[in-house]
Amino acid sequence: MGLNVAVQMDPIERINIRGDSTFALLLEAQARKHRLGYYTSDRLALVGDRLYAAVRPLQVRDKEGDHFMLGEAERVELSTYDVILMRQDPPFDLAYITATHLLERIHPKTLVVNDPAHVRNAPEKVFVTEFPNLMPPTLITRDLAEIKAFRKEHGDIVMKPLYGKGGEAVFRVAPEDLNFGSLYDLFATTFREAWVVQKFLAAVKQGDKRIILVDGEFAGAVNRVPAADDLRSNMVRGGTPKETELTAREREICRTIGPALRERGLIVVGIDVIDGYLTEINVTSPTGIRAIKNLGGPDVAAMIWDKIEAKRKR
Ligand SMILES: Nc1ncnc2c1ncn2[C@@H]1O[C@H](COP(=O)(O)OP(=O)(O)O)[C@@H](O)[C@H]1O
Ligand SMILES: [Mg+2]
Repeated sequence: MGLNVAVQMDPIERINIRGDSTFALLLEAQARKHRLGYYTSDRLALVGDRLYAAVRPLQVRDKEGDHFMLGEAERVELSTYDVILMRQDPPFDLAYITATHLLERIHPKTLVVNDPAHVRNAPEKVFVTEFPNLMPPTLITRDLAEIKAFRKEHGDIVMKPLYGKGGEAVFRVAPEDLNFGSLYDLFATTFREAWVVQKFLAAVKQGDKRIILVDGEFAGAVNRVPAADDLRSNMVRGGTPKETELTAREREICRTIGPALRERGLIVVGIDVIDGYLTEINVTSPTGIRAIKNLGGPDVAAMIWDKIEAKRKR
């Protein structure tokens, strides 16, 4: 049954197809004979109550340097599509928020993956706080006295921007670190939002596990081990992907948050777990799908399309 699918994403010429989850989804969609259209969020237009975009027919190929072919742009009303994949990467800024408002107009008649209203309501590092039993001791604030008290209680801490991504500005502050004051000042002038102060989890050396859930069910996982000279496990920061199994605790995390994800139409979600603690619930455009398959794991892209197709049949 081919579906009419449009993908809203970052410029396709710039993506790294080796690691890009969106690209994995597009390859699988094409293999299933769905028709693909492509646009970037700056080509959206809400005219009265009708949402349009300048959409270009898209073909993809799993070949570096030659991974896409685009046809001529055509102004299309987005409600005529069966499925929209909202896959632009953060920053989770006002441009991003605006795109969720626009796409909300056509969902769920057109199935937007993930549900745009719930994407807006679930910034990755804030959403976790709905599950206090699963996360490490965490403080969200920009208040100096609060941070000092937290530091006194927990000793070794990590400071990171609340809307950071890809390991940007993640710092470990040891109890005796005299740079804390300056770091605080730097954060206060650089970021307008609150930031995350978290207990430092020493076991991060063994990795930060990315677990993908599809419609609230465990689908696949990859461990990411930081480089010897870096705190950060993100693959864009030199973290190495490793094959992995889920521990009992990680299965419990999936079981606990699964229903909340399903209820909110968060079909494609990537969670991060360090030492059995949930640190992030990524609902925007989580990576990991390609790494999981490359390491001999399950075909998560196929599981996602099975789910989307089943939802479109109803
Ligand atoms: N509480 C922590 N303890 C130890 N390492 C951490 C902690 N928080 C973050 N890190 C390290 O920093 C990396 C990036 O932090 P994360 O919270 O995942 O933000 P981002 O959105 O930038 O990926 C993690 O993959 C991990 O290696
Ligand atoms: Mg992360």
